[in-house]
Amino acid sequence: MKIVSTIEELRDQLSGQLRTAFVPTMGNLHEGHLSLMRLARKHGDPVVASIFVNRLQFGPNEDFDKYPRTFQADVEKLEKEGVYVLFAPTEKELYPEPQEFRVSPPDGLGNTLEGEFRPGFFTGVSTVVLKLFSCVQPKVAVFGKKDYQQLMIVRNMARQFALPTQIIAAETWRADDGLALSSRNMYLSATERAEAPSLYRALTSVAGEVRSGHLDIYQLEHKAMDELASRGWNPDYISIRKQIDLQPPTAGDLAQGAPLVVLAAAKLGTTRLIDNLEI
Ligand code: PAJ
Repeated sequence: MKIVSTIEELRDQLSGQLRTAFVPTMGNLHEGHLSLMRLARKHGDPVVASIFVNRLQFGPNEDFDKYPRTFQADVEKLEKEGVYVLFAPTEKELYPEPQEFRVSPPDGLGNTLEGEFRPGFFTGVSTVVLKLFSCVQPKVAVFGKKDYQQLMIVRNMARQFALPTQIIAAETWRADDGLALSSRNMYLSATERAEAPSLYRALTSVAGEVRSGHLDIYQLEHKAMDELASRGWNPDYISIRKQIDLQPPTAGDLAQGAPLVVLAAAKLGTTRLIDNLEI
């Protein structure tokens, strides 16, 4: 695997490649990230990964400085997955001057759910993803459903800007007890780790109720949030949305069986976890 830190070296390595499959990450790689590398390999060649902790997507009270950086271990994992190039730019390389041009997602998609609790987050994500795409020029790029709203926003961005990159969705990789793998899981104490799968159980239960015809969405969401709160969680939201645009379904949407997804964010102690499940 070639490790490159400048855009120029990256372009040299990839010149003439027309089928590049790209997986952007912020490092601290786990099995979920590696499953994206494997999916990328099925859709293109060579596979290019990036590791870049993107300051633009961190809020003032978020954990940019504390974000786990495990570069050497990440490199070893990517080597084993047959990644051809790892692009790991410094901040100075990717943002040599203040990044004043930004990509802001439409309000409906960007300011709801995660966007409501993390103002500016999706502008930071969209901006860096567009810039990374511009560096790598991939034919396909793989994103995890774990970050469902991010996936939808990137997909919409690619479509609206007519980017030549096809966006591929990877299923969420979970531990045996259902907890979605995440860099943040390492912040959980042993007791919290044992409790953490109840977030996924809450989603499974909501999805089951909807599937069996229980369509009082408001009641389902609140029941699930109350239940988590009673177990010591601090839920930001549990929300049933339409898959297509992440807006709340109308009675008409429900009657027509519009594809739905239930999304959740909740704090356990000081750790904020997100998860979702397509219904
Ligand atoms: P990061 O959190 O490192 O995630 C990189 C990719 O891995 C994302 O597409 C994410 O959805 C996927 N992923 C994380 N956990 C997963 C799991 N358990 N199962 C499947 N896929 C999983 O998301 C980002 O970085 C950044 O916002 C980024 C897109 C790189 C822009 O900075």
